[in-house]
Amino acid sequence: MDIADLSLAILHHFLVFSLAGLLAAELVLVRPGLSGTNLSLLGRIDATYGAVAAAVIAIGICRVVFGLKGWEYYVTNHAFWGKMAAFVIVGLLSLPPTVRIIRWRRSGTDRVPDSEIMAVRFWLKSEALFLALVLVFAAAMARGFGS
Ligand code: HEM
Repeated sequence: MDIADLSLAILHHFLVFSLAGLLAAELVLVRPGLSGTNLSLLGRIDATYGAVAAAVIAIGICRVVFGLKGWEYYVTNHAFWGKMAAFVIVGLLSLPPTVRIIRWRRSGTDRVPDSEIMAVRFWLKSEALFLALVLVFAAAMARGFGS
């Protein structure tokens, strides 16, 4: 039994579920007709998404360093590196939506063009796909696959 390991695991789960919830909220908001208060709400949600992702990385690193298995277990585990690669891809896929959202808010537009909405929805859905892959690798690495 280790309280530090348990606390980090709980925090890690809270954060990754929050990340998924925020991504779902973005997909709900990014629809044709987006404007006004929903656009500012989207901006705040996207900023929170970035902050939560940074916290996921910080707590994830703490789990690697201070977790029960020790960092040696993870650095030689292929599922761990698969998870890191999928997570980096999620991060890269989140850049175009963030850039677009900032532009939409700065332009003070009344209504975002539908073509841009559909493009951002594509990036968000791709993120969701790779986030699911992160979970697959997470479950595998926790059970010794890839060692
Ligand atoms: C969105 C990104 C992430 C998601 C969705 C995620 C998800 C998960 C889940 C669900 C588990 C529990 C696996 C299980 O017990 O079945 C887990 C464990 C873990 N994660 Fe993450 N994670 C993410 C990012 C990270 C990052 C960036 C790191 C490290 C830098 C990390 C390090 C760990 C470690 C060390 C464990 C413990 C695995 C074990 O019990 O051996 N995670 N993750």
